[in-house]
Amino acid sequence: MGQTRLDKRICDSGRWTRSEARALIRAGRVQVDGAVVRAPEEKAPDGAEITVDGAPLDCRRTRYLMLYKPAGLLSATEDRDQQTVLDLLAPELRRLGLFPVGRLDKDTTGLLLLTNDGDWAHRVTAPRSRVPKRYRAVVDGTLDGTDEAALAAGLTLGDGTQCLPARLERTERPDTCYVTVFEGRYHQVKRMLAALGKPVLRLHRERIGALALDCALAPGQYRELTEAERAAPFQAENGSK
Ligand code: URA
Repeated sequence: MGQTRLDKRICDSGRWTRSEARALIRAGRVQVDGAVVRAPEEKAPDGAEITVDGAPLDCRRTRYLMLYKPAGLLSATEDRDQQTVLDLLAPELRRLGLFPVGRLDKDTTGLLLLTNDGDWAHRVTAPRSRVPKRYRAVVDGTLDGTDEAALAAGLTLGDGTQCLPARLERTERPDTCYVTVFEGRYHQVKRMLAALGKPVLRLHRERIGALALDCALAPGQYRELTEAERAAPFQAENGSK
């Protein structure tokens, strides 16, 4: 079993800096398996229960969040001039090296995943994973059966980009549809619908694989994924709207 310095373990939780962690330990506020430890350099076994002021320390190194991205924020970790989705997170989460899994445009709303697990993020976004992403789009125009057929056949965009076959489902509103894409090209949904002469007015991502945006979340809110939800992007969607 591995051993790590106690001050590092506490700092890795994201809630305290290394010097704050040392101060907590020296003040006798930290226990390891029920015993107070006052030496920051002391090593704690990886499986030990560490508490700070009696509350268990969250030692998870990899974190997975779903965020209801509101319009107006960049899908980036930092930007000199504009707010990013990271600005929505609590300070202790901002210290954990989280980043958005793929991107939504600034004006696109809906499901955005955040993690500090590079392998998992890569699996979700890698073109060969073919993870379906489902969007609700409102367009300037009237959608018809030819649009469904054009996406199903695989569109060629104006610049020659060949898209994989995608799914367009019309709704009772002639200007609103659901689009499912199996790749993640730049401005993909907007460019596909623009190529059909139906520019997108509003775009909202509601699902990645079988993982749907939690309807209890309001724009700007987020929550941790459950273990089962971490597998859901790689499972087939159930097709419900
Ligand atoms: N396709 C787009 O055009 N924009 C997004 O934000 C996501 C997919």
